[in-house]
This record gives sequence, structure tokens and C-alpha cells, in this order.
Amino acid sequence: MDWRQKIQALKEEISQYRIEKKDDVEKFRIAFLGTKGKLKEAMSLIAEVPAELRKDFGLLVNEVKNQADTKWNESKEIFEHTQEGSQVDFDLTAPAFHGQVGGLHPITKTKRKMIDIFERIGFTIFEGPEIVNDWHNFTALNMPQDHPARDMQDTFFLTENLEFLLRTHTSSSQILALETKPLPLRIITPGRVYRNETISARAHCTFHQIEGLYIDEGVSFADLKQCIYYFAKEMFGSDNIRLRPSYFPFTEPSAEVDIACFICDQKGCSVCKKTGWVEIGGCGMVDPAVLKNCNIDTEKYNGFAFGMGIERIAMLYYQINDLRLFWQNDMRFLKQF
Ligand code: DAH
Repeated sequence: MDWRQKIQALKEEISQYRIEKKDDVEKFRIAFLGTKGKLKEAMSLIAEVPAELRKDFGLLVNEVKNQADTKWNESKEIFEHTQEGSQVDFDLTAPAFHGQVGGLHPITKTKRKMIDIFERIGFTIFEGPEIVNDWHNFTALNMPQDHPARDMQDTFFLTENLEFLLRTHTSSSQILALETKPLPLRIITPGRVYRNETISARAHCTFHQIEGLYIDEGVSFADLKQCIYYFAKEMFGSDNIRLRPSYFPFTEPSAEVDIACFICDQKGCSVCKKTGWVEIGGCGMVDPAVLKNCNIDTEKYNGFAFGMGIERIAMLYYQINDLRLFWQNDMRFLKQF
């Protein structure tokens, strides 16, 4: 073995040396870095090295010394707080385990995608609270105490006097925004809503909605339609939608939005219930009564609103046929996104 091979062998020996307990740290130091240690021994090899190679020799020995120093210092740190002679039950030299990185829930992903689309056409996020009073959830939205439309939504009330409740729709945030924000206003309000419903493949007691609201001077139904078209095209790559006349107390006229079922190409499947169309939300021109409830001059301002269920959009987007899957936190399901 020439001097190079000997130093290489030493390098290898240092890297293989297993420091498994506190005592080994000192043993390692004595063996390699001590005054009679192997590094000292290696330095004496200089006698065999021809003058022109001594620089290389110096560099190599230095590298090995650094390697030993580092290993010694690192082990010292690891064993600093352990008892004399105690053993660690893991392999210090094993490569680091990177664990499992979490992912975003499909509802979060869908919500973010929807927000991103609406932000591109000038909507900003306005988030209202989940606990609201009767005024924000019903009365101001043109649903007075005895209005039959209240039956459309089964409510979780929080107080005996039915004053406070868990919002049944994000439309409650519309009112809060109209009361507190300057006009013109162009917002989306994503969030969680609650309904006292029996849990099934298509209904849950808590789900998510995105509400949109645009109030300005001279807003038309054509603006609303264009906005919905834009969303459908960006979200699903298809603007084959239809607006079906409908009724909501807070909009007039009102419509329900259907998208042509792209899962079966409108041939009829379980998702579209064999109709070829899937409902994705409701919309309409904000009823002036709602604006008046928020002290807005209806001679000057008007606007449109829409509301969509995020779960419904996610089910369509990812072709999921059971709503309950979103809440079960089953890794086999979640890992697919
Ligand atoms: N709030 C309605 C619901 O939860 C959805 C909705 C319909 C919102 C029409 C709107 C709208 O803003 O204009 O069923």
C-alpha cells in the first residue's frame, strides 16, 4: 500500500466507525484524533512522499482530519444528554426518513380553483361568520318571520328565541358585505354552511358554498350570464350551461344553473339522474327589497348574486358519487388527489 491507499483506508475506517453509545465518542477521539492516534500516524507518512506531491498529501490528510473532527463533534452533541454507557436504539448513520407529506383536501382544492377563477374577473374574497343572526340569514334576504321560503332550509338554531343560528347559506354574508362595504361591490364569499338534514350520498348537515355578489350602476342579467359562462368554461372546460327560471326570495328574476352532464355526454347517468343536466347553483338579480334592507339607493344601484355548492362542483369535477366521502378522512380516498 502506498501512502495514498493508506490514507484512503483511514478515511474509510473513520466513516465506518460506529459510535453507538456515549463511551464510544471518547474511544473514537483517542483512536483517531488523540496524540497517538491514527491521524498522527498518517501524518508521519510524509516521509514517504516525494517533495512534489507533498502539497497533495497535505490536502488529503487535512480532509481526513476534518472528517474525523466533524464526526466526533456531531456524536458529542448527540450523546451530550444521554447517560454514560447508555445505548441508542437507532442507527445514527441511517439516511433520514422523510415521512409522509400531507396533501390538500379535494374540497380545499376545488374551493381554491373556484376562487382563482372569480378573482381573475375582479371578485375579491369576503368571509362572513358561520354564526349569524336571523336578520343576516333570513329577514334581510327578504324572508320575513312567516315567509314560506324559510321551510326550504332546515336550520340549526343556537338560542331558544331563534335569534342566533348556524348560517344555512353564504347569502348571509351578502347582507354583511352590503351593510359594511362601500359600493360598487364585487365579492365572493366562500365558506361552510349548516343544515339540519339527514346525511346521505347527496346531502349533509354541513357543506360549503361560494356566494357571488356584484352591485354597481346598470348591472344587467347579461352580465350575470356572462359571469356564469366564464366560470363554467374555466372550471369544466365547457360553457354548455342553461339557466332555468326559478324562485329565490332574495333575487328577482331568479334562475337555477345547470351544466350539461359531461360524465355521460348527456346520455343519462346516475350523476345527472338520467336528465343530461346537473344543477350547479342558483342565481338572479338582487331583489331591490334586499338592497333597501341594507340602506342602498335602489334608484342608483342594482346587481346580481349567485350561490354554488363547492361539494357539488367537486363531485362533478372529480367524478365522485358520494358526498359522505369528503368527511370520512379515509386515506385511500384522500390519497387520490
Ligand atoms: N342561497 C341559496 C341556497 O343556499 C343559493 C343561492 C341562490 C344564492 C340564488 C344566491 C342566489 O345568491 O342568487 O340555496
